[in-house]
Amino acid sequence: MPSVVLTGAQWGDEGKGKVTDFLAEKADIVVRFQGGNNAGHTVVVGDEEFKLHLIPSGILYPEKTCIIGNGVVIDPAVLLEELDYLAKRGINTENLRISERAHIIMPYHKKLDELIEESKGAAKIGTTKRGIGPAYMDKAARTGIRFIDMLEREEFAEALERNLQEKNKLLAKVYNVEGFSRDEIMEEYMGYADRLRKYAADTSIIIHDCLQAGRNVLFEGAQGTLLDLDHGTYPYVTSSHPIAGAACIGAGLGPTQINKVIGIIKAYTTRVGEGPFPTELKDETGKHLRDKGFEYGTTTGRPRRCGWFDAVIARYTARTSGLTNLAVTKLDVLTGMETIKICTGYMFRDKVISEFPASLKALAECQPVYEEIQGWQEDITGAKTIADLPEAARNYLRRISELAGTPVSIIGVGTRRSQTIVIDTLF
Ligand code: GDP
Ligand code: IMO
Ligand code: MG
Repeated sequence: MPSVVLTGAQWGDEGKGKVTDFLAEKADIVVRFQGGNNAGHTVVVGDEEFKLHLIPSGILYPEKTCIIGNGVVIDPAVLLEELDYLAKRGINTENLRISERAHIIMPYHKKLDELIEESKGAAKIGTTKRGIGPAYMDKAARTGIRFIDMLEREEFAEALERNLQEKNKLLAKVYNVEGFSRDEIMEEYMGYADRLRKYAADTSIIIHDCLQAGRNVLFEGAQGTLLDLDHGTYPYVTSSHPIAGAACIGAGLGPTQINKVIGIIKAYTTRVGEGPFPTELKDETGKHLRDKGFEYGTTTGRPRRCGWFDAVIARYTARTSGLTNLAVTKLDVLTGMETIKICTGYMFRDKVISEFPASLKALAECQPVYEEIQGWQEDITGAKTIADLPEAARNYLRRISELAGTPVSIIGVGTRRSQTIVIDTLF
């Protein structure tokens, strides 16, 4: 602190929600800066589990300000559902603030997400079908509708009219499906506007003032490096930038104002959706990781593909996000394995390469080069300090840290807040 960015270091679902909630105790503000409700962040407090999609994971502390930044795309219906869900569970959401500049997901975005996926057949991306891609497409095309526009009836009516003229034509002529009614959307969205108006703010100013006052701001990334629109396994990516640099654009501050960047990385690797995954295990070991780690999507419930830890990816994230620290999560899931593998490079046409290739064709030819590490059998779910971990587990962490060129500063040994080991400098 004072300003820390948490970023997913793999293909998402690394445990960003849990680590954000853990670090939020020391933060004054927690900010989401990209993505939308394609994210699913799980936080466990005591015996209660919370699944958050749009609202920052700091919301479980009543006194923290939580911000949905300008870089996020917001489905207002989902946001209201999430607010109601939290209210029902006794969580105060009065301190939520939403950037006036954030873009809104419209009904036609969700429909188009489905239709575009269907039309791709076997080449589908496996999106969450939440309308994320089409909403960012409109943002880049400069036809999107922002939160502030939704709050002004006339502004919204005009923007909707312009959009429906184009979208309804596209739906009818290209996809052969019925379009949307202007009046129905108008009525629906004006209802959302009434309920959400009180949260609207120029959130960049709130963050700026907080940092000026020397207080702490935590930026909660969604998705992960390899789902980044520029740096991920394109086209099998999301439509925003999960890497740390996006915090500046998506929240409205400069790179000089970021002090630390923490890469959240699972002790193994998972991916949900289509696309390449060099260390994927399609065998019993992969199934074992899925069962033991409860690897099912928080948003869509799809089974996650599982594989060994990939240090090529760890190094890639360390570089593209400028990591200062690593938080290694789910170490407990590896307990009980005889040996554990770490991928240190890829065999590509008789040569070992240590960088992640841009070409998907080349990536498909890459075979992981593994190093085997002795496993451990002791239960580590109660470990409070690094010294409580078996030597083999410490060796595993040391090797990950060495290969990533980044110190491991936080270790997850279970889903609860208390199952988190904090170390400033490891070993
Ligand atoms: P996110 O999208 O990065 O926030 O991650 P998800 O919430 O989608 O998936 C991570 C899952 O792992 C959640 O169910 C968490 O409760 C769980 N989890 C997080 N950290 C740990 C850990 O250290 N050990 C175990 N066993 N589970 C964890
Ligand atoms: P969190 O924040 C894992 C994946 C989808 C699909 C691709 C594109 O929980 O880590 P999209 O709907 O974004 O257009 O889908 O990205 N994806 C995620 N995978 N965790 C996520 O979020 C994801 N958000 C999107 O499965 O492969
Ligand atoms: Mg998730």
